[in-house]
Amino acid sequence: MELLKAQPADALLALIKLYAADERPTKIDLGVGVYRTADGATPVFKAIKAAEARLLDGQDSKSYLGPEGDMGFVRAIMPWMLGDFDPAGRIDGLQTPGGTGAVRLAADLLLKAGVKRIWMGTPSWPNHVQIFNAVGLASETFRHLDVATQKLDFTSLEAALDKADAGDAVLLHGCCHNPTGADYSEQQWQQIAETVAAKRLFPLIDLAYHGLGHGFEADGYGLRTVLAQVPEALIAYSCDKNFGLYRERVGALYVMTESAEQQPAIQSNLAALARANWSMPPDHGAAAVRIVLEDEGLTKIWLDELDSMRERMRSVRDTLASYQSIGSVNLAAVGQQNGLFSVLQLTPDQIAALRADWGVYMAGSGRINIAGFTEANIPHFIEGLRAVTA
Ligand code: LMR
Repeated sequence: MELLKAQPADALLALIKLYAADERPTKIDLGVGVYRTADGATPVFKAIKAAEARLLDGQDSKSYLGPEGDMGFVRAIMPWMLGDFDPAGRIDGLQTPGGTGAVRLAADLLLKAGVKRIWMGTPSWPNHVQIFNAVGLASETFRHLDVATQKLDFTSLEAALDKADAGDAVLLHGCCHNPTGADYSEQQWQQIAETVAAKRLFPLIDLAYHGLGHGFEADGYGLRTVLAQVPEALIAYSCDKNFGLYRERVGALYVMTESAEQQPAIQSNLAALARANWSMPPDHGAAAVRIVLEDEGLTKIWLDELDSMRERMRSVRDTLASYQSIGSVNLAAVGQQNGLFSVLQLTPDQIAALRADWGVYMAGSGRINIAGFTEANIPHFIEGLRAVTA
């Protein structure tokens, strides 16, 4: 044990405690990716509250379900995820502890299937590379976004896919790119799908913010486009954000195989890997999601709640974009981006000064959580931004 050195706390998660300890009433939390209302709250969805009440009343056992978790939940997500794409029995999955568990299991499965490396755009969610490295997958990077100009670097993606070897994996954010908010256009998705298929690369699509960009249909476009062209794919799905179930850890990993006959073998591998990782996923959140999706009335309430979240984030983005640019920071682009995040062109010193002098908490990468803004706190943020970039 004495060989073990102390590790720094996860930089993003550490912000939660730093923010809580700050006593300034004007402080602004743009850190970890949770949705907030215009009053700064992260309430439990009404649809989830109702589903939980039914669970409390009706659940007659807490006995084990198995490493695959709640398959009613896993299958209930599929029509939302796949839209009109018919997998003809080639896609199935299992429940995982959050989207993180799904990415972890995907990495384990890729490695077990003989994949040695994975290509990914940067910046990305910092935990992606940690997970890949933890299981022993080598990661190769390309630039997803030029943060200074806020332009998506599609040339860099094309060059990377060109360099990749057949059998390499490639990580793609299905929508609401974390951390940049910069998503591919429909035409770019078409191109990606063609190249990935032609080069026989293995896509891992991370769909952690489904429904929070432009709605389920539009946010699933990239996923469906890739699935339509490739023989095999992995999808890491999270319900932590689109059902507001963060701490309940609700996710699923889906695998598309070349033929339906391959599914049982793949599912048995997933079950074995899950068993060795966490044995079985926690039940409560997934059961609540299943109850919502099985009930038309609750589904409608849930969709209305999601609509209002999306509308609020859109209106915050529009307000920020109306400032155009401040110092080195291009705010106009924020209006075109999707989901909870955008990344601002700021130096570590400027980010530290925003925190120390203005009580503005954002990730060290310059990532801001759009839902942390309110119409009331945006002027304070802009004032701070002007001061630190002057
Ligand atoms: C985030 O990126 O803020 C969220 O996905 C939370 C996390 O686990 O990092």
